[in-house]
Amino acid sequence: MLVMSFRYGLSLFFMSVIPGAWRRTAAGAGLLAADGSVAPTIFAEMSAAAARTGAVNLGQGFPDEDGPVDVLDAARRAIADGANQYPPGRGIPDLLTAISEHQRRFYGLEVDPDREVIVTAGATEALTASLLALIDGPEDEVVVFEPYYDSYAAAVALAGARLRTVPLRAPDFRPDLDELAAAVTDRTRIILVNDPHNPTGAVFGPDVLAEVVRLANVHDAIIVTDEVYEHLAFHATHTPIATLPGAAERTLTISSAGKTFSATGWKIGWIHGPAELITAVLTVKQYLTYVNGSPFQPAIAVGLRLGDDYFAEAAATLARKHEILGAGLRAAGFAVSPPQGGYFTVADASALGGADAAAFCRALPDRAGVVAIPLTAFVSAGNRSAYAGLVRFAACKRVEVLEEAAARLAALAR
Ligand SMILES: Cc1ncc(COP(=O)(O)O)c(C=O)c1O
Repeated sequence: MLVMSFRYGLSLFFMSVIPGAWRRTAAGAGLLAADGSVAPTIFAEMSAAAARTGAVNLGQGFPDEDGPVDVLDAARRAIADGANQYPPGRGIPDLLTAISEHQRRFYGLEVDPDREVIVTAGATEALTASLLALIDGPEDEVVVFEPYYDSYAAAVALAGARLRTVPLRAPDFRPDLDELAAAVTDRTRIILVNDPHNPTGAVFGPDVLAEVVRLANVHDAIIVTDEVYEHLAFHATHTPIATLPGAAERTLTISSAGKTFSATGWKIGWIHGPAELITAVLTVKQYLTYVNGSPFQPAIAVGLRLGDDYFAEAAATLARKHEILGAGLRAAGFAVSPPQGGYFTVADASALGGADAAAFCRALPDRAGVVAIPLTAFVSAGNRSAYAGLVRFAACKRVEVLEEAAARLAALAR
């Protein structure tokens, strides 16, 4: 025990004196304490709580069952057939073609597979490489809707830019278009959009997307759009922002196989846009990972060519799961914001004594046997009070797991 605490103290000492970009990254993510130590992410903390207590883990967003068997078999075949060395830097030609076909088939977008798309180590790398490639100095600003996926603030800080946030407010999490217009200025280098949205489950309507495009044109900003839940919009239609007039020439569209094919661990993502922007992103990306996932790339090409029924069923199944989860949450006394897409349902815990959702979530594994994440984990430090009572629950789990979680949560009401 003594040895452990001595080691911990030593690591604190070293961390506080090590200069480097890690510090602004940790600070951007809200993980840097005043004494220079780095807190674990709330996801790590909550997953540890789930392991310790045996609670149902509705914290981190990963499915607990495998995706389509054709895709899994294609990966196994690719390994057996020797796809085990570096693939080409942009990705294997068959996957680049499949991504281009997919964008035409679902959205009518024309993407040149040779010049306008690259495969990345998940959407996360596509996003970070884009920010590192396109941010030019500390005066540059990146406008995001808040709450935001947690890597955004960290990557913006790593890239050395300033984060400007536009609030999404419960219960429907629609942005106020005047607030959006006020946030975008000539200093805005990038407007970073995530649609369908994590953590709120919002799917932005045409008015919001059109205003983003208008503002990007007025202020000569680049639009980076994270559409990893593109096939998991169930109560609204997903519209890629690149399909709007005036958007394609200034938009980088990011997606990932992780959510669509329940293969989050494969980390196959992609990004497409105008050739000049893609060249800029590739220039950085090639020195981050160079390439990844050789045998998974042909498998995702198979996935992207699956029939329409696969994609429709994926969204419908997730909608049913949200209904089971939502019913359990309502029975327990939460005020639920019904999601329109994505893995997550947000609920207000105030009526259950959860006005401080961070404390509520820390107690929930022992109190109810369920793990969830406070929405403050997705909000910058100065804005946390507006989200203090809100909790995010993942619905991307097996039905029986959700039913068990719903039953445990309902017991809170008794
Ligand atoms: C909005 C959003 N963007 C990006 C990612 C990361 O995607 P990937 O695992 O492909 O890097 C996630 C994963 O949860 C997400 O929710």
